[in-house]
Formats: sequence, structure tokens, C-alpha cells
Amino acid sequence: MSRDISALQRARSTYKPKVPKALRQPNVRIEFGAPTEAAADQEDIQALFPHIYGQRTATLVEGESDLRTDALRVGVVLSGGPAAGGHNVIAGLFDALKAANNDSRLFGFLRGPWGIVECDYIELTAEKVDAYRNTGGFDMIMSGRDKIERIEDLARCRHNLEELDLDGLVIVGGDDSNTNAAVLADYLRSHDSKTCVVGVPKTIDGDMRSERIEITFGYDTACKVYSELVGNICRDVISSVKYWHFIRLMGRSASHITLECAMQTHPNIAIISEEVEASGTTLEQIVDEIVDVIIKRAEAGKDYGVVIVPEGLPEFISDLETMIDELSAVLGEEEGYITSLPDHSERVQHLTSRLTDHSARVYGSLPQDTQEVLLRRDSHGNVPLSQVETERLLIDLVADRIRQLNAQGQNIRFNPLSHFLGYEGRCAAPSNFDADYAYSLGYSAAQLLRANLTGYTAGIQNVTRPADEWIACATPIPMMLCMETRKGKPKPVIGKALVDLAGAPFRRFAENRESWALNDDYVFPGPIQYFGPSEVCDGPPVTLAMEHADQYQL
Ligand code: FBP
Repeated sequence: MSRDISALQRARSTYKPKVPKALRQPNVRIEFGAPTEAAADQEDIQALFPHIYGQRTATLVEGESDLRTDALRVGVVLSGGPAAGGHNVIAGLFDALKAANNDSRLFGFLRGPWGIVECDYIELTAEKVDAYRNTGGFDMIMSGRDKIERIEDLARCRHNLEELDLDGLVIVGGDDSNTNAAVLADYLRSHDSKTCVVGVPKTIDGDMRSERIEITFGYDTACKVYSELVGNICRDVISSVKYWHFIRLMGRSASHITLECAMQTHPNIAIISEEVEASGTTLEQIVDEIVDVIIKRAEAGKDYGVVIVPEGLPEFISDLETMIDELSAVLGEEEGYITSLPDHSERVQHLTSRLTDHSARVYGSLPQDTQEVLLRRDSHGNVPLSQVETERLLIDLVADRIRQLNAQGQNIRFNPLSHFLGYEGRCAAPSNFDADYAYSLGYSAAQLLRANLTGYTAGIQNVTRPADEWIACATPIPMMLCMETRKGKPKPVIGKALVDLAGAPFRRFAENRESWALNDDYVFPGPIQYFGPSEVCDGPPVTLAMEHADQYQL
């Protein structure tokens, strides 16, 4: 049975992504830079990755090619949360392999990295790939969050990759998945396996970035979708003039998405977790600051506004973090007893008697559902912070404060509404930027495999310039690694790049936020445009353009 597709999907299927000049040539070669060192903890990283440590950086340039032209067999896997452009990575990879040798074959491992361990795969034919060009989502081969870490799982991967006779494997994922790509690359090389492993940087969170990896694909589309919706809500508040909207935006830890959306829409309040942490701000102080803006706007006759909040905020609020640590210690000792208490108020009473005064007060001040979420732990012992509805928590605390003020004679009107924008943005049809960028990454990954490179992440530099000026490059993964304690053990990780408070985007935000708080300086970006003038369709994320000091107009 054929599946109906939308008119946009049909029209969009013929879009030809723009790629860097070097990738448009049949003759592309690799130019190597200097040997590299790990970002930190060099000795530890070298000891963990002895077979791929110290490799040289690489750039793809036009020139007489010495890359392989024999038919290659390559596997690809999508890892972690979906991000717009994943299908274009696969399309770029497919096209590049076929352009070099039409007999090359591409296989997609299903449902994430576990598909490699289980040898669960399909062949990606031209018909299959064509059906997914420039579409959102990861549904062509699906994704998963499994990590290949245990030696027996690495051995099963090796066995399966050898059975399939794969020359290369492309792992599309974020910081953890690219670290995993290095683990697998080193393991395979240590066993003289021929399969080369290349990573492709993906995550809507935009927190895997450096000089060489300027941004991950998916971030642009997600931010544009959220910004459209935030902008629409901004337009609603100045139309209906009666609501305060509190909007939580996805982003596990870093606040890049919130900062980008703030720069695109100019809400009255945007909270940036990294600033909250740096200044040691407490939950009460955050509430004070919000109430202050509400009062000032009410005095100006504006009983409405828009607040955007990053998903990762609770982890960055000093007193919440302390309270969560104390709660974890108490639960570690008495979890059985506490969860056996039948009544919510009994649980709260018992817990607050075991916390320090300040933490007891913070815990006691939280709404019931947040108190209950904070009593849960996932299989690794972590608090499921993403289940904390921070936007509703703030609404409750602000409403309490306003009730108190009104009881003392003030007359502040506060009609709040809450939203969470997350999954809406991850699988949208990729913006031109993400369609071009992801396709170029996939196309580059194929060239790296044709050069027998392993333990590298594909990257594109100069992405805020027109695609003509993009530079395809490759970064040895150990160069991005350092050691961090995870679940009590030292682990190699690609450190998450948080919002830089000294960077141009945050500084621009900080310069403007006072005006945004009181005036209605809203900007309405509207929906992503796929057809039309380049300045409407092709722009990169605005914070990225600011970081690269471009002249891109907001
Ligand atoms: P990735 O880093 O794997 O791309 O995922 C990011 C993300 O979308 C976060 O923004 C969000 O917190 C998380 O995934 C949600 O995870 P899940 O898909 O498991 O609900």
C-alpha cells in the first residue's frame, strides 16, 4: 500500500542540498594537519585509545584523488534523540558512495547502536533513500540510546561487522555516541579489523561544538520550530492582553536552545541556566526576579508576558542542587521505608525532618507533583529531572507570591499558562541549513571512509557563510576527549559545551533583556521557509552567526 505524502514532502523531495565546493568535485583528496593531543588528561586518553590516539586533523580539498574507488560496504546507525537532517546524512553518504563506485552498498542498523550488537539491519537502496530525502525524523532506520561499552558487546559488534564484511561504519550521534565511535574504532583497530568508524555530530541541544565542529545538525530546525511557536505566543499576548505564558524548551543540560529562541523572539524573560549557576542564584531569587517583572509590567498596564525556561534549569539552581544531593543521601539509606509510607504528606514530613533546614524549606515549598518526581531515581540513580515541569513549578511559586502581595493590598492580575516545547522540534522537516549541512556531513563521512580513516568525527567549518565557502574537515575523536566522573567512575567523554557567558550571543542578550522585559519588543520569525529568497530560507542559527561575528541580520 503506498503511503500518502504531503504536497510539501513531494516538492521537497527534489531539493538538492548545497555542499562545500570540495565535495562537488569528483576529485577530492585529504589534506592532513598536525598530530593531535586530547583536550585534557592526555595520558589517560592515550592509554584508553592507544590505536587511534594522536592522529592528524584532516581537511577535504579539491585535488587529484587517491581515495578508494573499489566498491565499499558501509553501515550507518542513528543514535540518541532524533534531530532534523538524519535522513540527509544517510542520503549524502549514499550518494557519495555511489558516485565513487556504483556497486558500493549501504546498510542501516535498526533502532540505534543495539542494532549493531544484534546484527539487525536493512539494506538502504536508492528507492528507500529517495523516499526520505529532506524529510525530518529518524524513521528510515529508527534510533536508540544504547551504549556499546561492555567488552562482550564490542566483541559481538566486531563479529557482526566482519560477517557483513563492512569497510566502514558511520555512527550519527551526540557527545556520548561519538565517544562510543572512538571506543569501537580503537577496539576494531586493536583486532586488525578492516572496518573504519566515523562519527557524525548530531543533537538538537547544540552542546557538542568546538572550533572544528561549529554546530550539530538538528539544532537549527528545532530552534526555528520553537521560535515560530514562541513568536506566535508573543503575538497572542499582545492580542489577547491577559495571559502570562511560561514555556519550557527542550535541551537536556545546556541553554543554547533557549538563548537562540530568545534572540529570535525577544520574550520578556529568558532564563539561562549557565548564568543561574555562575551567580549561585536560588529558586527564591529566580521567583523574585520574575515577580519583579510582572509587577513592573502590571504598573504599565500590561498583565501579560512570555517567559522561556530551559529544560535543564533545575540542575543549575544552587539550592535545588544541594537539596537533591541531600535527598539522594536520605533515599540511599531509607528508600524502602520512605516509599512504604502510604501518604504523600507523611513522606514529606519524614523527609523534611532528615534534610538541613534550608533544603527542607526548599523541598517543602515545591508543589506536590515535583516533590514526588524528586523521590524517583532512574536505573543509574539519577533524578529524572526532565520530568520536572519547571514551567509549572515557577508558575506555582510566582502565583503564591502574587497571592501574598495581593493579600497585602496590591492588585496584580496574573493568569498563567504553561507549555513544553520539545518533541515538536526534533523531527520537523529540516531547514535548508540543516538539510544542506547534514547532507554535507554524510557526504564527507563517505570520503573519510574512502580514505580508510577511523576514529574521526566529520565536520564542516565556516557554516555561517554560504555553502560555497564551507570547509569539510575531520577531527580525530580523542582530540575532543577528557576524563570525567560518571556514575562514580572516571570515563572518557567529549565535554558538553555550555553557553559561554562571555560570548557574543549571551552578551547581546544581556544588553537587551531589560528592554525586552518591559517593552513589547517581540519578534515573530514565522514558520521555516523552504522556498523563497535566500535571506528567508537559508540563514544559520542567529547565535551561531553572532559567535562567528557575521553580518547576518536578526
Ligand atoms: P540527543 O542528545 O540524544 O540528541 O537528545 C537530546 C534530547 O532531545 C534532549 O533535548 C532531551 O532532554 C532528550 O533528548 C529527551 O530524551 P528522550 O528522547 O529519551 O525523551
